[in-house]
Amino acid sequence: PPIDEIVNLHDFEAVAKAILPPKAWAYYSSASDDEITIRENRAAYQRIWFRPRILRDVSVVNWSTTILGYKSSLPVYISATALGKLGHPDGELNLTRAAGKHGVIQMIPTLASCSFDEIVDAAVPGQTLFLQLYVNRDREITKRYVQHAEKRGVKALFITVDAPQLGRREKDMRMKFVDESGVAKVQDGDKNVKKDEGVARAISSFIDPSLSWKDIPWFKSITNMHIVLKGVATPEDALMAYDYGLAGIVLSNHGGRQLDTARSGVENLIDIVAALKTRGPWPNPRFAIFVDGGVRRASDVLKAIALGASAVGVGRAFMYSFCAYGQEGVQKAFQIFRDELEMNMRLIGVRSIDELTSDLVDASGLHAH
Ligand code: FNR
Repeated sequence: PPIDEIVNLHDFEAVAKAILPPKAWAYYSSASDDEITIRENRAAYQRIWFRPRILRDVSVVNWSTTILGYKSSLPVYISATALGKLGHPDGELNLTRAAGKHGVIQMIPTLASCSFDEIVDAAVPGQTLFLQLYVNRDREITKRYVQHAEKRGVKALFITVDAPQLGRREKDMRMKFVDESGVAKVQDGDKNVKKDEGVARAISSFIDPSLSWKDIPWFKSITNMHIVLKGVATPEDALMAYDYGLAGIVLSNHGGRQLDTARSGVENLIDIVAALKTRGPWPNPRFAIFVDGGVRRASDVLKAIALGASAVGVGRAFMYSFCAYGQEGVQKAFQIFRDELEMNMRLIGVRSIDELTSDLVDASGLHAH
């Protein structure tokens, strides 16, 4: 359909499903095992209700914010999703160019199909980029990659910590992998790539399962970028990340693609914010909590922020938006978020992101806390 018939982010998903080759659809849409967590990511938001306030003069509302200190026109960032070229010939560049036009922050995936430098070259001056890191068994490769990224102006490093082994995404595994993705070869020290277990496993054999807390000081020694752990699920680990002096955490289950029956990020948020409050005043300018997974509506974003998130990551919704429409689709997705944010903020009774407080939501439908 023509792009002006797209009304919400679900529409992009339906279009992507209709036009993508089966292998690409399987890789993008799949989640692990019985796909319980991916459904829960959506369902959790539907158990949170608003407590809207009235008569607060919402003639002017502003949804811009800062993420790790960097300006963002939306309280949403583009989370790392691998293999953009499976969905569209321009791959990740669709995201970079749209983000540059609209002042949105993109997290570049280690397993991008475009090369890292191609992506950075597509950014406009002053555009903020973050980097998602899968840590290589060969730490020299990782060190070169991280230091190159810092030299090229990347502002933050999101180390993925929920994937010492890639999940069994069975839809993807049923598709045999033929390497036409063009994923940058630089990560792959391992020549014995398994090609019979789907795309995800074929491209991930370099990831080091021995990664541990002991490596954190090393990361701090090789870079001055903010370091954030992507894939935290418990107050125990959130406190460890804080005590290791990191810049933040992402409450994420990798879009349901890793441990199935892991809880949703937004459900974990309340307990984790409560734990961090034991370390001092909250919000704490030196430590950010992000949430991703299942975000398809501005109302989801506003709920997570009201419960204590600094900003929210979006994976699939932005990927799906470029499959049929390229860069224009991503820009439309930003526009949809903007329209929904404006309306929802007015209806909740808030004029800015920092007015979002926990009294504006009823989260009693989440698990006991
Ligand atoms: C991902 N995600 C991901 N995360 C990461 O740290 N490294 C990666 O390479 C990828 N690749 C990837 C590919 C695809 C196709 C998907 C759908 C997801 C996870 C991603 O960053 C984010 O955590 C989730 O996508 C958030 O959930 P939603 O927004 O997709 O529901």
